[in-house]
Amino acid sequence: MALAPYDLTGRTAFVTGAAGGIGRASAVLLAEAGATVHCADRDAGGLHGTAELVGKHGGTARTHVLDVTDRPALAKAVHSCERLDVMAAIAGIMHSSPVLETREEDLDRVLNVNFKGVLYACQEAARLMIARNTRGSIVTMASGAVDTGGPGLLCYGAAKAAVVQLTKTLATEVGGQGIRVNAIAPGWIRTPMTDRHDGEAQAHTEGVMARMSPLGRVGEPEDVAHAVLYLASDASAFTTGQILRPNGGVAMPW
Ligand SMILES: NC(=O)c1ccc[n+]([C@@H]2O[C@H](COP(=O)([O-])OP(=O)(O)OC[C@H]3O[C@@H](n4cnc5c(N)ncnc54)[C@H](O)[C@@H]3O)[C@@H](O)[C@H]2O)c1
Repeated sequence: MALAPYDLTGRTAFVTGAAGGIGRASAVLLAEAGATVHCADRDAGGLHGTAELVGKHGGTARTHVLDVTDRPALAKAVHSCERLDVMAAIAGIMHSSPVLETREEDLDRVLNVNFKGVLYACQEAARLMIARNTRGSIVTMASGAVDTGGPGLLCYGAAKAAVVQLTKTLATEVGGQGIRVNAIAPGWIRTPMTDRHDGEAQAHTEGVMARMSPLGRVGEPEDVAHAVLYLASDASAFTTGQILRPNGGVAMPW
């Protein structure tokens, strides 16, 4: 069957940031493709909602309420998986402040969640995959911020650039064990993270973002979830160390 490489039946995926937005859409799609999904997030209520959605789509979800910066908790949750074929390290936070007003605690907070949280997830996943001899796929979440500078994006962009470096480095280190590591750098996606204004102001922001894309629209969580499924599945079997950009064409690096 032509679509067989996308089939995740019998596989297990671990998704961080699964309580909402891109993480939730990814968990649901991976489950629809046949995977058992382990959903991790610090938002217990959101996780419950995701697990319900997975169930409605006929899938199986396990939930782990944790903070991705809590390394022992994350390690325990990952190693509770019988087997691990896919790690999607999606949890992240937004922060915006001009360089001259950025405080050390801002930088620490954003690097802790957006970089160290992804690093710990990658490390635990790769350890488990190697121990179980699984030719798995690790997907990290970078951002279009790595392609285009922007005012206020120092902490967020630095953490996402570090995620790209982690992705490329790890890809070279675990490729020999058949493990692939790729990053996704989405453009502006309509999620709770980008829902920062009320009514007209939000519509104005979305309009500005939409006009930056040759497609004339902003992204939806499902646009990114489809990229996650591609990288998680055998459809991308010859792809590693890459950055995939569901960004509506806002940036077009070589
Ligand atoms: N929305 C966009 O436009 C966009 C663009 C590029 C990249 N991204 C990235 O995509 C990822 C998902 O973003 P989203 O837009 O879905 O945002 P979101 O706020 O809807 O979802 C982020 C999820 O991460 C969880 N989370 C945050 N900090 C956590 C922590 N310390 N421990 C555990 N869970 C934590 C939140 O509870 C939330 O469920 C993020 O890494 C974000 O940086 C988003």
